[in-house]
Amino acid sequence: MPSLQPFHTFALPVNAKAVVEIHSKEQLQQLWNEYADQPLLLLGQGSNVLFLEDFNGAVLLNRMQGIQHREDQDFHYLHINGGENWHKLVTWCVEQGYHGLENLALIPGCAGSAPIQNIGAYGVELQDVCDYVEVLNLKGNTDSKCGILEKLTAAQCQFGYRDSIFKRQYRDHYVITAIGLKLAKNWQPHLQYGSLAYLDSSQVTARQIYDEVCAVRRSKLPDPAQFGNAGSFFKNPVVSQHDYLKLKTDYPNIPAFPQADGSVKLAAGWLIDKCGLKGYQIGGAAVHRQQALVLINRGDAKPQDIVALARHVRQQVLEKFDVALQPEVRFFDANGEIDSEQAIS
Ligand code: FAD
Ligand code: EPU
Repeated sequence: MPSLQPFHTFALPVNAKAVVEIHSKEQLQQLWNEYADQPLLLLGQGSNVLFLEDFNGAVLLNRMQGIQHREDQDFHYLHINGGENWHKLVTWCVEQGYHGLENLALIPGCAGSAPIQNIGAYGVELQDVCDYVEVLNLKGNTDSKCGILEKLTAAQCQFGYRDSIFKRQYRDHYVITAIGLKLAKNWQPHLQYGSLAYLDSSQVTARQIYDEVCAVRRSKLPDPAQFGNAGSFFKNPVVSQHDYLKLKTDYPNIPAFPQADGSVKLAAGWLIDKCGLKGYQIGGAAVHRQQALVLINRGDAKPQDIVALARHVRQQVLEKFDVALQPEVRFFDANGEIDSEQAIS
């Protein structure tokens, strides 16, 4: 059985029955039908997944390449095939003078995976630049829409914080084949998050934002090439105003981000940090010392170590703050995706 270790950023010692690179929609459709009698999983760069055991089927790697550009007076329009590397795309756009993606530099993964959890960082989310998402419906031959390409507008994607339609009804047999981005020529920098606020908004360039974002990310987040990880393991929890005010009484310095609907987003990393868990280890898994929201593979972790650590972290935060953390990372057993929150409850 081929190893999945090089194909997911947690780099755990798990295998699959087959691992195949996909370079075209036709090949994807053909293999999907060929492997129809076994579990199937499409992966980009594997930077948001946790394999709990060997996968009892085929893993298809999205490597569909190609970028098309056109422009009018007001916008640059990009059509990007799903297997393109996201960070390479961001770098290329900065070099070409197509601005708007610079805050999203250094996020691992494929362009085609970016809409799934509406990737976000440093005050920008994919939804701010997304024009459309192209999907291929791969459902079996009885479905009349099988093999049909659909273009969903950004509104149809129902983007939210780390959420979209691709985690719900478009999850099981819809594959994102390409994305369309629309970048305004009248560029406005987004400087509200963290150290970006120190940049001068009247003079700043997209390149400077790109450089600053890369520097901050390199200082906080572990490089998966050194320590396996999947970025933030949990989502930042969103609580009611009432629950936030209760917490603020006991913890006056608790970081909080008010949301448009009156709820408040908390920083899961801060909550975990305040439980004294930085550096905490179970087997080969550990809470990262620079960023408590990231769980790492110290080199010899087994899937069960990561699960046991995630369960412990969730339990400690629940006991101390009465806040239930939900994983951002997607969990897979031998047959496919499972409920990640249930797996660590
Ligand atoms: P994968 O992990 O390969 O796949 C994720 C899920 O999508 C799986 O369920 C898979 O089956 C499915 N899938 C993959 N491709 C397709 C497709 N074409 N069509 C349909 N389904 C598909 N995320 C952020 O939002 N912000 C960050 O700042 C950020 N920082 C990170 C830092 C590090 C160090 C790491 C390791 C991760 C970080 N992440 C961040 C998470 C991750 O980079 C994103 O979720 C990314 O979009 C995942 O892309 P991928 O290609 O690796 O997806
Ligand atoms: N904090 C601590 N201790 C820690 C970690 C964080 O006190 O160990 C505090 C920080 O001081 C800050 C607050 O928590 O006050 C937020 O921390 P940070 O700015 O590092 O961001 P985050 O909330 O931990 C989120 C995203 C990241 C994204 C960054 C930057 C989620 C789940 N995570 O992290 O996305 O890169 O903001 O925008 O929303 C990912 O999704 O994988 C990811 C890395």
